[in-house]
Amino acid sequence: YIDLSFYHITEEQVFTNIPQRPVNSNKGSFGKLLNISSSFGMTGAGRLSVLGAQRVGTGLVTLAAPRSVIAIHAAALTEAVFLPLSENDKGSISKEAIPQIADKLKEASACLIGCGISNNEDTAAVTEFIIKNAKCPLLIDADGINALCRNINVLYEAKAPVVLTPHPAEMARLLGISTAQLLVRKVELGREFAVKYRVVLVLKGANTLIFTPEGTTLVNTTGNSGLAKGGSGDILAGMIAGFMAQGIPAEQSAECGVYLHGKAADLCAARLSKTSMMPSELLEDLCILFLEHG
Ligand code: APR
Ligand code: MG
Repeated sequence: YIDLSFYHITEEQVFTNIPQRPVNSNKGSFGKLLNISSSFGMTGAGRLSVLGAQRVGTGLVTLAAPRSVIAIHAAALTEAVFLPLSENDKGSISKEAIPQIADKLKEASACLIGCGISNNEDTAAVTEFIIKNAKCPLLIDADGINALCRNINVLYEAKAPVVLTPHPAEMARLLGISTAQLLVRKVELGREFAVKYRVVLVLKGANTLIFTPEGTTLVNTTGNSGLAKGGSGDILAGMIAGFMAQGIPAEQSAECGVYLHGKAADLCAARLSKTSMMPSELLEDLCILFLEHG
């Protein structure tokens, strides 16, 4: 017998999880996110993930990216800091970057890896290193998830809470099945996976599902097809990681990120249409949501 019941994420719950900003605070009060993202040809993913984290109030976001793309990011991201990494001949992070990343990881209150990093032997080695060594909560997205497909058991070596944010094709790849096979049994398969590997699993799509290591399932009701465009997922990854960096527990960070990402997209669609809205524009609507909730 499999229990298929699940909870809905509510706006009240979301804002209860997000602490007020104390008068006597500084950027150190709101966490340091180490964001290992981007590669030649996928700089947008890195940029959007940084913006997602900044717009949920993170104290400081460091983008660790291949050296050759740093100038592109520096021109576009005036509030971020950068860690230029050793890169391979394809313009993605190389294994030689591991000591550089290890150093920065010690100062981070959360780590995000994967948005547009590319999928190759080097990025897989870096992803494994992060999973085995991070002492802070970790979010793995996109090509970080693709790296995991090579050795899923590395998840058992994680020292801190892990959140995974696959879209259905990435989830199916992780399980070694087709996307169609996943979609007909996604609640059972998602729950089984989160419990087995002790991770918070965010299975994206219309009505994103969140599975916890304890076997709870939550369903999100915000969001719309205006999000079905490249870049939406990178913003979500940044938002969830930004909440984690601020000390909100992994599961609650996932709930807050998924709910507010969808809600901001709904406001954005009402203003600019589902057809024309750009993922980056929902960041403005996110501001409105935080304004309303003081
Ligand atoms: N309704 C509601 N939400 C949606 C819908 C929809 N119809 N379609 C997409 N979304 C939301 C998802 O829930 C998720 O939060 O938009 C986001 C999409 O995330 P991703 O699928 O990860 O997309 P993204 O990473 O931005 O871009 C596609 O993924 O397959 C790779 O290589 C591909 O780079 C590409 C990237
Ligand atoms: Mg994605």
